[in-house]
Amino acid sequence: MSYWLKELMEADEEIAKLIIKELQRQRETLDLIPSENFAPLPVLSALGSVLTNKYSEGYPGRRYYGGNEVIDEIEKLAIERAKKVFGVPYVNVQPYSGTPANLAVYVSTCKVGDTIMGLDLREGGHLSHGWEVSLSGILYKSVPYHLDKDGFIDIDGTRKLAREHKPKLIWCGYSAYVRTFPFKEFGEIADEVGAYMVADIAHIAGLVAAGVHPSPSPYAHIVTTTTHKTLRGPRAAMIMVTDKGLQKDEDLPEKIDKAVFPGLQGGPHENNIAAIAVALKLVQEPAFREYAEQVVKNARALAKTLVEEGFKLVTGGTDTHMVLIDLSDHGVGKGILAQEALELCGVIVNKNTVPGERSSPFYPSGIRAGTPAVTSRGMKEKEMEEIGELIAEVSKEALKFELPSKNRQEYIREFKAKMRENNVIVECRRKVKDLCEKFPIYEELGG
Ligand SMILES: Cc1ncc(COP(=O)(O)O)c(C=O)c1O
Repeated sequence: MSYWLKELMEADEEIAKLIIKELQRQRETLDLIPSENFAPLPVLSALGSVLTNKYSEGYPGRRYYGGNEVIDEIEKLAIERAKKVFGVPYVNVQPYSGTPANLAVYVSTCKVGDTIMGLDLREGGHLSHGWEVSLSGILYKSVPYHLDKDGFIDIDGTRKLAREHKPKLIWCGYSAYVRTFPFKEFGEIADEVGAYMVADIAHIAGLVAAGVHPSPSPYAHIVTTTTHKTLRGPRAAMIMVTDKGLQKDEDLPEKIDKAVFPGLQGGPHENNIAAIAVALKLVQEPAFREYAEQVVKNARALAKTLVEEGFKLVTGGTDTHMVLIDLSDHGVGKGILAQEALELCGVIVNKNTVPGERSSPFYPSGIRAGTPAVTSRGMKEKEMEEIGELIAEVSKEALKFELPSKNRQEYIREFKAKMRENNVIVECRRKVKDLCEKFPIYEELGG
């Protein structure tokens, strides 16, 4: 058992055992959730460091607390690395996570009641881009844009909506979009109507950092990102202003700084900020570029196998780290059945809405599967083929069931009980365990 686990075990056996149980779960399952990854040990070390003890409200050189000389150095280093990696002149590394970062962007660019545009949540947008139950949809007038009939961003439709509604801000960034993000086109639309173009690269930040996906920096005014997805850092976020953003409003950095602190947050989590700095050092190494390239190759290999197995993919394939399987031809709302059956085998995916969704976001008709975490384990195309076949086999079993319109929770409980006995599921669980054993993670942690 490693040192930190021993310490924890002595102080709080209950929590220590639960952490070991979760470590075991991560080791024995295939994590295909596109927004998840395995933070490298140096990132975990910075997170669990003495930096968590320090209060540092304010910014480097202008803090409300004493004793921040070292903290200033750490935060400045994180900022400088982010500027270099993303080619931008200003970065704020203090947002606690992606949603607060996006809220800070509204606060610094819009007045309450202003019109904003983001991709409809049901078609791949994020809650914080104007969905009705998020503050972004409550405080601002949200005009969602949409996908075209083939599942690509509807550029012409968006331009038409923007001309009609004159938004103050347009988001170009997504949670479930599998193709290259149309930064250039959105930059042009925003310029035409005088809006801020904000690229949210939470999902693809690692791909952008490695040059595997085009950068938004020449086209957007502001870029936001989480740091815990393809970037493989801690659970945190950053807000960046581009050269184009500074040309539009030279006071943007100051406005964003104020919106983050004291507008929305108190003391920054400097242990997270140090972990961001570590992640940004690691992404500059050649090994990370290889990793990011492999993430996309793996997603393409997964897509190919699924198509060969007869599954319909939104847009027919992928340019990024994820595939979106459209199960709607097999009946409405079956994403949850596929997700539950796959989880019984140790394959962890996301149920997800699909374009033209006829069911609710809780019982959607698709599933989302991503390759960032399995690629971090060292898996390549051959394993993706194997995983694609597993997903196909298990989903086909799940699709034999019909989701009723009532008493769905109870039905799903019974469905899972039946599936646990199903030979295909039992055999797939064994295959998943074998595959996970061949590609171990966090061996240094013991446990
Ligand atoms: C595009 C996008 N933006 C923002 C976020 C929000 O991040 P967080 O969960 O850290 O608030 C997510 C999370 O999945 C996302 O996909």
